[in-house]
Amino acid sequence: KENNIAIAIDGPAAAGKSTVAKIIAEKLSYIYIDTGAMYRALTLKALNEGINMEDKDAIVGLLMNTEINLKQSFDGQMVLLDGLDVTKEIRYQDVTTRVSYVAKHAPVRTEMVKRQQEMAKNRGVVMDGRDIGTHVLPNAEVKIFLVATVVERAKRRYEENVKKGIASNIEILKNEIEERDRIDSNREASPLIKASDAIEVDTTSLSIIQVAERILDEVAKVKGPKLK
Ligand code: CDP
Ligand code: CDP
Repeated sequence: KENNIAIAIDGPAAAGKSTVAKIIAEKLSYIYIDTGAMYRALTLKALNEGINMEDKDAIVGLLMNTEINLKQSFDGQMVLLDGLDVTKEIRYQDVTTRVSYVAKHAPVRTEMVKRQQEMAKNRGVVMDGRDIGTHVLPNAEVKIFLVATVVERAKRRYEENVKKGIASNIEILKNEIEERDRIDSNREASPLIKASDAIEVDTTSLSIIQVAERILDEVAKVKGPKLK
């Protein structure tokens, strides 16, 4: 499988990373790894155990005793926290508003990156997050940095909630997204930043299919058009 490559997709919250990453992975029969789900799972456990998200030592200690598994299931990815299915819980608002505080601790990131690199070592992988192109897979053959205006991203999350039957408010969603982007972009340890060799794609006025096509074009440049 020498033609299997690594595809890194980074960008701010709700830019469409996981949606297109899943499509690309399916098209290429690659594995998909949602690294945000790992930070979310750790945050959920800290929340359940009443640990302060700012307490770096406690959070790192917790991670060292925590097993996080991403399982590919028929309808996407299943997230297992110490063997228990937490796929739904990790998307709860309580987790979303706290996850950036957990993710800013340098030793937490070191351990997460180690686990993520191990998961990706056999290639044929699409990985999405904030530091994939810069730290986790610096040698990825294709690096994409997805962006979109914050208004568009808040709208997308709102529409998602409507579909799930969850009541929400665009203004609050916009504030939450902006706050998370601010913390993720300004932290000292591997902040959210476009890798110098990443291709930036503004998805504000693109459909999901258009974004996927754009990325598959880049993949084809590396793998050869026949394998697209
Ligand atoms: O999907 P959404 O944009 O809401 O976020 P996510 O990808 O699930 O990531 C949740 C949070 O985890 C981010 O806001 C970051 O604080 C953190 N994260 C990170 O620091 N590094 C990554 N590679 C992935 C996520
Ligand atoms: O993973 P990330 O937080 O970057 O975003 P996501 O969860 O994949 O996408 C957020 C929402 O935007 C999803 O409901 C997608 O269906 C939608 N989306 C869109 O409407 N247009 C795009 N070009 C990309 C995503």
